[in-house]
Amino acid sequence: MGQVVAVLGGGTMGRGIARCLAGHVPVRVYDASDEVRQALTSEWADAPVLGVDVAADVEEAVAGASVVLESVSEELETKVAVLSAVREATGPDVTVGTNTSSLDLTVLGDRAGIPDRLVGVHWFNPPEVVPGVEVAAPERVDAVHVRRVTELLRLIDKVPLPVGATPGYVANRLHEALLAEAIRCVTDGAATAQQVDAVVRSTFGPRFAVAGPFEVMDQTGLVVQREAFANLEASLSSPAFRVPPVLDSLISEGRTGLSAGAGFYQYEQDATEVVAERVARLQAVLAVCTPSTQEEARP
Ligand SMILES: NC(=O)c1ccc[n+]([C@@H]2O[C@H](COP(=O)([O-])OP(=O)(O)OC[C@H]3O[C@@H](n4cnc5c(N)ncnc54)[C@H](O)[C@@H]3O)[C@@H](O)[C@H]2O)c1
Repeated sequence: MGQVVAVLGGGTMGRGIARCLAGHVPVRVYDASDEVRQALTSEWADAPVLGVDVAADVEEAVAGASVVLESVSEELETKVAVLSAVREATGPDVTVGTNTSSLDLTVLGDRAGIPDRLVGVHWFNPPEVVPGVEVAAPERVDAVHVRRVTELLRLIDKVPLPVGATPGYVANRLHEALLAEAIRCVTDGAATAQQVDAVVRSTFGPRFAVAGPFEVMDQTGLVVQREAFANLEASLSSPAFRVPPVLDSLISEGRTGLSAGAGFYQYEQDATEVVAERVARLQAVLAVCTPSTQEEARP
């Protein structure tokens, strides 16, 4: 095992991140709460071979570390205080990641005095299970730190997902938009919460495991997709469904989707082969889904 990785914050996410790292690299975890530190100590006492130590403070946690992963509570001042302590206790070559979900990386980097080495390393709950981790860095961050984080994630069999350093990254923007619309479905009286959940679990939820939004739009066909937006905008009077101008541009260029050989993507493969592969992958996903994935909504 090589480089030491420090994990700051031992709550839901920090604890899971430490579990992901355990056995791959020596890990030191620190949490400000005595209770959490005690719980972590007893968790890792049973598995000393995995190389996880619980530190008494930030300084002890980061000593000799080449990567520090901050995952403390989502409060600006708390993160600034912890990251500032990291700055004081580490040299300029130490990579620092933050698991912030919604704070501005530029502000955090400036306030903590580590603008050139603070990388957004955004995990998903439960970190031990979800493969993808978003990696985002403002332009001024030295590429060596982005590379180091990316290599670390690959080492522990995670999927590093480079994205822009805008608040919410990609996943939270998409996810929050869906959640807001789900609430509107209920408040508009279109469905109950249980019905909304059942629809997502048993339709496009599992499908998104095999094809992302752009792959889905290409498969649907961009002309049909354009109509869907236009009709919903008109009938629901909602600007959320306004036709994105890029659809008109692509359509005018003849890039109307998978069956035309081009849409958002350029396809080398025949459309029927692409669809057959996706169907097979979807069937594989559904074969291992728990029954609750497909059950009907309860009243
Ligand atoms: N929970 C999620 O689904 C999720 C998903 C992605 C990212 N995140 C992000 O991960 C971070 C942690 O979230 P969480 O869900 O694990 O929260 P949590 O409340 O479970 O854990 C936060 C931990 O930070 C500790 N802490 C607070 N101040 C500290 C300090 N000064 N030094 C050291 N430890 C300190 C707390 O004692 C607590 O144990 C947040 O930035 C959150 O936005 C959470």
